[in-house]
Amino acid sequence: MKKRILIMALLAVGIAAMNAQTMNNNNRKDFGNRRTVITPLPAIMIATYDENDVPDVMMAAWGGQCGPRHISFHLSEHKTTANLRLKKAFTVSFATKETVVESDYFGIVSGNNVPDKVARAGFTVTKSPNVDAPMVNEYPLTLECKVLSMSEDGLVVGEVVNMSAAESILDENGNIDLGKLQPVVFDSAANTYRVVGEVVGQAWGSGKAIK
Ligand SMILES: Cc1cc2nc3c(=O)[nH]c(=O)nc-3n(C[C@H](O)[C@H](O)[C@H](O)COP(=O)(O)O)c2cc1C
Repeated sequence: MKKRILIMALLAVGIAAMNAQTMNNNNRKDFGNRRTVITPLPAIMIATYDENDVPDVMMAAWGGQCGPRHISFHLSEHKTTANLRLKKAFTVSFATKETVVESDYFGIVSGNNVPDKVARAGFTVTKSPNVDAPMVNEYPLTLECKVLSMSEDGLVVGEVVNMSAAESILDENGNIDLGKLQPVVFDSAANTYRVVGEVVGQAWGSGKAIK
């Protein structure tokens, strides 16, 4: 019994010592840069056509708006990247609370292995009237984009030529209501998806309280 208590005490001291070692002088834990957490990361759904006009959709979290009408992603080699090189066009939609299962599926299965990936998810597409890319009918907010550049190390920059939204996500003034869209963000710290939450301030407004 005494031996067991001694071992438990030694373990507790050991764990405390390990934790203490990882705290820096400012009493914060240093993680280095091996698994950087940047938040929020979007759960962007990129839709493209291949040479036979078969639609494909993939999830990308390493991306976002990089100018007034510009969007960029960092992509590894996928069916999507081949399609982007071929068609120089894509659409972007956003994973939502309602579509999280299908959206995650688009991030774990490749159109190279499952050519009818979109149909298997139970989703349907309509060809964009503005670019040579499919629009996923089940996603209520969609940007139609042209590829501006693709670098050798995987950085893709696109220009948005049109944005359209289903009536179901518009507010009474006809603007997009994120509360109705319920987009999800990718939580890279916990490998989960979280719904974009409550309004807590006014941009270019809340700070006036201490100006
Ligand atoms: C949460 C999540 C985020 C992802 N983010 C990216 C990303 O930013 N860049 C990338 O190249 N792949 C990313 N992927 C992986 C692709 O979505 C995945 O490889 C997909 O199967 C590619 O599909 P495709 O071959 O049909 O184009 C992500 C996957 C998940 C689940």
